[in-house]
Amino acid sequence: MSQIKVAVIVGSLRKDSFNRKFADAIARLAPEGLVFEQVAIDALPLYNQDHDGNEVDVVKQFRAQIQSAQAVLFLTPEYNRSIPGVLKNALDQGSRPYGKSVWAGKPAAVAGVSVGAIGTALAQQHLRNVLAYLDMPTLAQPEIFIQAKDGLFAEDGSIGTGSRDFVNGFVQKFAAWARKHQ
Ligand SMILES: Cc1cc2nc3c(=O)[nH]c(=O)nc-3n(C[C@H](O)[C@H](O)[C@H](O)COP(=O)(O)O)c2cc1C
Repeated sequence: MSQIKVAVIVGSLRKDSFNRKFADAIARLAPEGLVFEQVAIDALPLYNQDHDGNEVDVVKQFRAQIQSAQAVLFLTPEYNRSIPGVLKNALDQGSRPYGKSVWAGKPAAVAGVSVGAIGTALAQQHLRNVLAYLDMPTLAQPEIFIQAKDGLFAEDGSIGTGSRDFVNGFVQKFAAWARKHQ
């Protein structure tokens, strides 16, 4: 079975981001044949259509990193009931020039952690809208809305025992989804 590289995009730039910790913990659950690699979005400039086809190196590099992956996992916080602007900016940067989107056809999954009780449900719904337009087949179930609370992470940074089986089930289903769409 050939190896699948999953580009992991975290929609928070915060040093102590729960979503980044979650991305780190998920990577530890990767089944054989899947490798999770975080792709940074913090140095991307704001998208400007005037620069289409003449992108700065950091944008070119970002696009190349997505292009070289066979699947994409998005970890999004919820900002004001939607996705953070930095995440939308990364999606826009990868989507242009017109006809040269790096997202099209790549299997995807979304997950997210927030401090709120509905754990990023609305942000994820907005993100799913964008991914549908970008032609990314996105895993529908299980939905994974995580509220940041004590015990979410174990001392060593792995997923805490209360959520581990559920999160592992998500990772296994995503792995099967990614394989199916190669
Ligand atoms: C600008 C802003 C807007 C936010 N809006 C929401 C929201 O709509 N829903 C929610 O559950 N949490 C909201 N939060 C709280 C985030 O869930 C919390 O900051 C979370 O830790 C962000 O994820 P991170 O730890 O990965 O940075 C908001 C936080 C910020 C900074």
